[in-house]
Amino acid sequence: MIIVLATFSLGGLVTVQLFWLNKAFKAEEKEFNFSVQVALSNTVQHLLEKADLTATPKPIKQLASSSFLAEVNAPVKAQELDTLLKYEFSRRHLTIPYEYGILNAEDDTLMFGNYVPATFKKQNLLENQADLTTTTPPGHYNFVVVFPDKNTHIFNEMQFWILSTIVLLVVIVFFGYTLYSILQEKRLSELKADFINNMTHELQTPITNIAIASEVLKNSGANLPSAKTQRYHEIIFQENERLKEQVERVLQMAELEKKEMALTKTQTNVHQLLQDSLQRLSLRLQKRAGKVSCHLQASQFTIQADSMHLTNALYNILDNAEKYSPQSPEIQISTRNYQKGILISIADKGLGIRKEVQSYIFDTFYRVSTGNVHNVRGFGLGLSYVKTIIHAHQGSIWVNSQENQGSCFELYLPFRA
Ligand SMILES: Nc1ncnc2c1ncn2[C@@H]1O[C@H](COP(=O)(O)OP(=O)(O)OP(=O)(O)O)[C@@H](O)[C@H]1O
Ligand SMILES: [Mg+2]
Repeated sequence: MIIVLATFSLGGLVTVQLFWLNKAFKAEEKEFNFSVQVALSNTVQHLLEKADLTATPKPIKQLASSSFLAEVNAPVKAQELDTLLKYEFSRRHLTIPYEYGILNAEDDTLMFGNYVPATFKKQNLLENQADLTTTTPPGHYNFVVVFPDKNTHIFNEMQFWILSTIVLLVVIVFFGYTLYSILQEKRLSELKADFINNMTHELQTPITNIAIASEVLKNSGANLPSAKTQRYHEIIFQENERLKEQVERVLQMAELEKKEMALTKTQTNVHQLLQDSLQRLSLRLQKRAGKVSCHLQASQFTIQADSMHLTNALYNILDNAEKYSPQSPEIQISTRNYQKGILISIADKGLGIRKEVQSYIFDTFYRVSTGNVHNVRGFGLGLSYVKTIIHAHQGSIWVNSQENQGSCFELYLPFRA
């Protein structure tokens, strides 16, 4: 609605502006033409008076937008015409460059031509560019005046209009920017709404499971066989772990929102961190008969880093590799040294990521949409957290992936940030 209304009203404003601009130009042009015609007909009058002739009814003709023909049909001297034109034009403040030419009235051949620049003033009225002593043989002559810079002159006279057009352009640019921000904001709020839905749902499942298990324990008390009691306790413990992990994730987001992340950097063994994060995932991998192969080839593997955040980041990537593998996960981890740093690559043979959306996966809340099927849960926070952490270590992260073939996340971390 906003876009439609805004486009409509801006379109209207622009049309009105163009309409008035056109009108103002025409009015200025009319005024100019009128002044020139009066100046020229006065000139003709003077020339005829000298030759003791009477004027023809319409001596001035406008040949084109910027050229005028004066039909004198009388002897015209270059010197005389030059002075008269300068006098008449300057009286009307027509201080704009022009060319004039004297033509033979019979066959329109040019007898004399001259260019007069714009800056002539009263005192140099008689200063000449061409040799004005050129005499035309006796006979009947006309003359033409051309204004090569007519349009520029008219635009210069329209300063107010130009200014208002510029203001309008500024308004349009400002408006475009506002619209862009609104759309951006809208997208973010939609994503946030999604996230909250998602989170409530995610938290509800373990809470419900814990409620049921504890209720059973409470109601049946000592009557329950010990194996069953054990099982319910286990459920409560596991679901509680899940809850903890989810709350952790939301806290990670809060961390992301902070402008400056407090990192405590120490000498850290990257290979150790990889092992630690794998350890965290091992139970899930075991359940799904997952395979992990490690080729830790970097010979120098200690870097200045915050071990807690970096482990979380690596865990997030491994977590994705497991989550987005529909069959039993096959994860390959390798490291090597590269340009004063370490390159880590984590590859899986899972779902893969389409080329078009690869650039979005590091955005906060972004999840690749799979239609209405939500078989893999998540908040879309993991990779944006990873990216923030890697950047805080002056490193970089990128992804190579093909749909249904698998994904390979590569990280570069410098030894010393
Ligand atoms: N290894 C992978 N294979 C296939 N798709 C992936 C992989 N890693 C990430 N993605 C896609 O990128 C999206 C963003 O990943 P991210 O880790 O940021 O969010 P999430 O896993 O959906 O949620 P969270 O990690 O917050 O629980 C995922 O929704 C998924 O579609
Ligand atoms: Mg994830």
